[in-house]
Amino acid sequence: MNKKPYYITTPIYYSSGSFHLGHCYTTVICDAIARFKRMDGYDVFYLTGTDEHGQKVQQRAEKAGVTPKQFVDRLYEQITALWKKLDISYDKFIRTTDEYHEKTVQKIYEKLLANGDIYKSEYEGMYCTPCEAFWTESQLKDGKCPDCGRPVTKQKEENYFFRLSKYQNRLIKFYQENPEFISPRSRMNEMINNFIKPGLKDLCISRTTFDWGVKLPFDSKHVAYVWVDALSNYITALGYLQDDHAKFDKYWPADLHMVGKEIVRFHTVIWPALLMALDLPLPKKVYGHGWLLFGDDKMSKSKGNVVDPFFLADRYGVDAIRYFLLREIPFGSDGAYTNEALLVRTNADLVNDLGNLVSRTTAMITQYFEGRIPAPNAYTQLDKELITLCEATLDKVRKDMDGLSAPDALTDIFKIVQRANKYIDETTPWTLNKQGNTERLATVMYVLAECIRFAATLLKPFITETSNVIFEKLGVNSPEDFSEITKFGVLKAGTKVNKGANLFNRIDVEKELKALDELAEKQNSDKNAEQTLPSDLIDINDFAKVKLCTAKVLSCEKVAKSDKLLAFKLQVGDEVRQVVSGIAQYYQPEYMVGKTVVLVKNLKPAKIRGVESNGMILCAADGKTVVFVTPEKDIGSGKEVR
Ligand code: MSP
Repeated sequence: MNKKPYYITTPIYYSSGSFHLGHCYTTVICDAIARFKRMDGYDVFYLTGTDEHGQKVQQRAEKAGVTPKQFVDRLYEQITALWKKLDISYDKFIRTTDEYHEKTVQKIYEKLLANGDIYKSEYEGMYCTPCEAFWTESQLKDGKCPDCGRPVTKQKEENYFFRLSKYQNRLIKFYQENPEFISPRSRMNEMINNFIKPGLKDLCISRTTFDWGVKLPFDSKHVAYVWVDALSNYITALGYLQDDHAKFDKYWPADLHMVGKEIVRFHTVIWPALLMALDLPLPKKVYGHGWLLFGDDKMSKSKGNVVDPFFLADRYGVDAIRYFLLREIPFGSDGAYTNEALLVRTNADLVNDLGNLVSRTTAMITQYFEGRIPAPNAYTQLDKELITLCEATLDKVRKDMDGLSAPDALTDIFKIVQRANKYIDETTPWTLNKQGNTERLATVMYVLAECIRFAATLLKPFITETSNVIFEKLGVNSPEDFSEITKFGVLKAGTKVNKGANLFNRIDVEKELKALDELAEKQNSDKNAEQTLPSDLIDINDFAKVKLCTAKVLSCEKVAKSDKLLAFKLQVGDEVRQVVSGIAQYYQPEYMVGKTVVLVKNLKPAKIRGVESNGMILCAADGKTVVFVTPEKDIGSGKEVR
């Protein structure tokens, strides 16, 4: 059977800093949707990646003393490690420095130019470098960038422009005909009132003030505006304008661009207009989710309020983090992160509800039926209530996920878990056991095991690791799809369960909060201590790499055709070494013979003016003269200097 394609994307992440829990929000949500759709029979393509060009990257790389490519390579390693840790199941990772992407962006510019959508003109505007966005004076908030609140600078350039204004009416018409395109609805009004109604201005789509970007094919002094470069990733990744475009043919237009609310504007105004200009169909939906807040502020590196996802995942487990992000924050709105909320949520849902249900059930099957799931007998009205709930949940969850609401989906799945826990209290299996009512006890155990199977199957897209562990405990394979949760009664009697360890361990919230506070305090004081040190300090291990020793000059002569160089033969313990030094202007060769110098012994050999040099003689210099360094007393050659 041909599966229906489903194309879902995250924004591509800026490679300009480290990554925090806020960044994980978009990606984890998309991952849950992608996994859900796969299990629900779709042919899913999930794309994520990194946004690696632009002035900001160039500036940060300069500051770090590395090339922009080295800089983005490092962040690429970091983010892919993060996604691995969080079990993100993307089908492709695109980097905007990938050659195929850069070439296709050039083709896109050529196409826009050929269609008359690009022209050259002078531009003056207020530019926010961190956001890579131009603003008009009236859009500024207190003279600062309306998105991030940081200062803007006036920039004037001769540039290429995209005729965005030409698409204003077509955009409005498209929104009207596709009221679901911008979601949630409130964001649609925001776009129309704040951006479209005041009138769309043509968009400056090239830059000359820096060069870390895609060079324009028709004018190599200019690089592509990072947002055009970045937005294009959604189609270049599929092979658009490339030899192999099978994926583009299959998956475009995208079913869902999931983005944070601050970048809805780029995705619902600029991106559709560019696609119209390229004569391509528009994505079906752009969803602008809310922010993960820390205190009252967006969690962001520049605000210094970030929470490290690696730390949390190592301490509480990946699924506790995934679950928190997916369950806690009402979808579409902002939601606050606090350590307490994470711990309380983990204890309540994962430890108490899910963990308890699984451990109680597997323990009872182990105790009462030697670890084998018993065959059920006649179902009672009470059993049927649970059976109906289980069989109805997939449809409910599907509806929740169609509305992209992971919190609602999880709430519905946990209704099975909570109902099953209550069922244990209602049926009191320990009493049935005492009464020797094995027949009823068997049915109760079977119903519980099936409830767990239903819940674990539905939880697979959300808490990936835990659901697999639950299937191990149930003694059956983890299912690939939802086909076996339409009907109750799939588990085979006689299947051996494995009780094993608890799924989650209860957290002592008060104690843990204190421990986290102490850790944060320690980190802060370590950071402060680091900040008071000059940044060029090295530690003792760095110094230990340099091997210094004394050496006696056996002979010294000028290097041919050089005013500066002297060639030395040095006695270094038992060894004789040749070293070239640039001190000919300060010392006569014959003066040097018999002197003791200090030598850098483990320098890689080099050829200087064709003469091999094995080390370096230490000298002191004051800009006018140079003197060699010598031990205060004669100590012999080859002695360590430290
Ligand atoms: N590079 C652009 C996107 C280009 S897409 C063609 C970008 N990158 S980003 O790294 O700043 O953001 C990536 C995603 O992380 C965005 O969806 C953004 O909203 C999200 N988040 C970053 N901080 C966040 C929170 N504190 N909370 C929730 N999501 C946040 O924008």
